[in-house]
Amino acid sequence: MNNIIIVGAQWGDEGKGKIVDMLCEPFDVVVRYQGGHNAGHTVRIGDKKFILKLIPSGILHPGKRAVIGNGLVIDPGALIEEIGMLEAAGIDVTSQLSISNRAHVIFPFHRMMEKMTEDTHRRISIGTTSRGIGPCYEDKIGRRGIRMVDLLDREAFPALFDALVEEKEIIARALEIHERMDFKAIRAQYEAYGERLRPMVCDTARLVNTAMAQGKRVMFEGAQGTMLDVDHGTYPFVTSSSAAAGGACTGAGVGPTRIAGAVGVSKAYVTRVGAGPFPTELKDASGDEIRKRGHEFGSVTGRPRRCGWFDAPLLRYTAMLNGFDSFALTKLDVLESLDQIAVCVAYRLDGRETLEMPATAREVERLEPVYEVLPGWQEPVGNVTRYEDLPGNARRYIEFLESQVGVEMGCISVGAERTQTILRPESRFQKLLG
Ligand code: GDP
Ligand code: IMO
Ligand code: MG
Repeated sequence: MNNIIIVGAQWGDEGKGKIVDMLCEPFDVVVRYQGGHNAGHTVRIGDKKFILKLIPSGILHPGKRAVIGNGLVIDPGALIEEIGMLEAAGIDVTSQLSISNRAHVIFPFHRMMEKMTEDTHRRISIGTTSRGIGPCYEDKIGRRGIRMVDLLDREAFPALFDALVEEKEIIARALEIHERMDFKAIRAQYEAYGERLRPMVCDTARLVNTAMAQGKRVMFEGAQGTMLDVDHGTYPFVTSSSAAAGGACTGAGVGPTRIAGAVGVSKAYVTRVGAGPFPTELKDASGDEIRKRGHEFGSVTGRPRRCGWFDAPLLRYTAMLNGFDSFALTKLDVLESLDQIAVCVAYRLDGRETLEMPATAREVERLEPVYEVLPGWQEPVGNVTRYEDLPGNARRYIEFLESQVGVEMGCISVGAERTQTILRPESRFQKLLG
């Protein structure tokens, strides 16, 4: 039982793709458990760069099984495009990929519904990725969604599709949306998508549990980040799924007793795309410097990512929610040019220090960070492979973060390449890898 979950500890884009790819070797199966093609997980291998949206990063390792679990929402057009991109790079996707028959299907009218809620003055604009993710999860929870298994059912699909369309048309009329869609053409297109994906669709919960029973090792790849989790994040500025570690159980169909540990992925600073509160956000030149050095632009939408200082109270909160055993700290190299680096060690709310993460975005907006300033190291770290070879101030920075968060940083990433990674010997991280 040495299966682990890799989870984003901030607001997404922490470098999960790189860490999952780098850790893959001892694992047999890699499973995505929530989200959809709102995710963009970048893996750099030499001069090649892959941005994976729906398919787990494990697909890049020949022979590993990659699983899209029941907790995802799938835009079949986007998935087929991603498969095509990987096949063009010589990857045998059909033999490596399994897609849950219980995952829900995104249709073009989901994107239309999202545009409507994002653009109207009646609703708060979340700054979503406009992929139809939220409206598809709404249909899932509303018990009217269409799943992969329905899409493949040649008899049942047309009627299910027509019923859902009818409902959307009523809503569109009520809200005076005049965008016309050719639903007949969409239905035919989706039937064709279904045939293309059919060979890969199965009961993935059974597949994953059987693999575990055979002693195979499974890694769960989170998408988004804990602060975007629909229950625990900065609601309503969140995504519509359970991005935190608990989501792995429902989103893959495995029991908590089958999972040995959880690793949080965190940048050495913080970023966020889209709207919502961000206590340590930098709106000055240091924010621009981090954005430039870290190439902080969304891998899905290309939007500039908001940047800020490392936020220890936020990480204490996400470490608690996920029960992190260890952290992978990424993008340390991005800070190497700075002469001083601030770390938020506490929050003040209305003049008083608070240990709790407030439940409303309105209060999180009002949090004032309390900073401690540490000296930078001002030398390149991208080629360092052993912890003890890092500059003294870089180690002091990492150890300060550990003492503030209360969880070890067992893995330090100093560049986008697989090889630009430092594993700390004797860490819990090393033990989890086994
Ligand atoms: P994910 O969504 O969590 O997988 O993260 P993204 O792929 O959206 O964003 C992380 C970005 O940082 C990608 O462009 C990675 O190639 C890059 N990256 C990951 N780790 C490091 C690192 O340690 N240093 C640098 N400079 N870039 C990194
Ligand atoms: P990865 O897996 C960063 C953000 C959007 C928006 C909010 C809701 O690459 O870390 P949605 O389209 O999901 O309804 O948008 O969530 N968001 C992400 N931000 N990384 C992601 O994924 C994200 N997926 C969604 O910007 O604020
Ligand atoms: Mg990303």
